[in-house]
Amino acid sequence: MLIFETAQAMQAWCKQQKKAGQTIGLVPTMGYLHQGHLSLVQEARRQCDRVVVSIFVNPIQFGVGEDLDKYPRDLSGDCQLLEEAQTDAVFAPSARDMYPEAYATFVEMEGTITNRLCGASRPGHFRGVTTVVSKLFNICLPDQAFFGQKDAQQVLVIEKMVRELNFPLEIVRVPIKREADGLAMSSRNVYLSSEQRRQALVLSQALQQAGAIIGQGERDPAKIIAGMQTRIESAPEARIDYIEIYRAEDLADIKQIEGKVLIALAVKFGNTRLIDNLLVEV
Ligand code: PAF
Repeated sequence: MLIFETAQAMQAWCKQQKKAGQTIGLVPTMGYLHQGHLSLVQEARRQCDRVVVSIFVNPIQFGVGEDLDKYPRDLSGDCQLLEEAQTDAVFAPSARDMYPEAYATFVEMEGTITNRLCGASRPGHFRGVTTVVSKLFNICLPDQAFFGQKDAQQVLVIEKMVRELNFPLEIVRVPIKREADGLAMSSRNVYLSSEQRRQALVLSQALQQAGAIIGQGERDPAKIIAGMQTRIESAPEARIDYIEIYRAEDLADIKQIEGKVLIALAVKFGNTRLIDNLLVEV
C-alpha cells in the first residue's frame, strides 16, 4: 500500500493509473477508522480497480469551539486496517499542504440543503466539506467516490455539488453501519463515557420507533417528532440539538409523511455530538 503526503504526488500517481486504464474509487475520511469506513472501502474494492482512501482532519469544516484539536487520530492504526482491506493508496496530507499560506479559494453551496440540520447548528461546516471534497476530487481523480449514509445531509450536499459543478464522477452511498446494539458507528463514539454510551442507544431506538409508527399509518411529522423527543429525553444526559423530518431528495419542508422522507437527529451527550438518521418511504 502506498502512502502519499502531498497533493502533487497523489495526483501524479492517480494520473498514471488513469492513463493505464484503471478506474479509481475514492473513500474520503477524517481517519480513526471503524467498520463503517471499512464498509466504504469494501464497496470501493468491489467496484473499482484502484482504491484510494484519504485521511485528513479538515480544519475548515470545524467551527470555533468544536473538537478539531482533540479529534481522535491514529494514522498507523488506520494504515494497518487499510492494508488489510486491500487499499492501494492512502492520501494523508498535512493541513499546510492542503491549505498553504494565503489560501483563499472555497466552494460554497447556498439554500436549504446546507442551511438546515447540521448546517444550522454548525455554520460554515458544509463550506469546509464542499471545499475539501472538491480538492480531493481534483487530486485523486476518482471515477466513483464512496460516502456513508450516516452523514445523510453531507451525501445530499455532495451529490448536488457533483451535479451542479459537473464533476465527472459518480457518488455511491453506503448504508449506515451499526454496533450490535444499534448505535451508529462514529469516530466520535470513543468520547462517550460508558454511561453515555449506554444512554446513546435511545437515538437508534427513537428512529426505529418513528419508522414503526409510520408503518402503522401515522403521517403527521410533528407527532412523530414529539414521540422521538420523549424517547430521547428519557436519557438523562441527552441534550437534543435537532430532530427533524424533511423530503429526502432536497430537504424541503413537508406537511405530512409521503414519498421518501429523511428523519434526522443530532443529540449531545456531554460534549459529544452524535448524529443518526433514517430514510423512510411510504
Ligand atoms: O465525512 C467525513 O469524514 C468528512 O466530512 C469528509 C467527507 C472526509 C470531508 O472532510
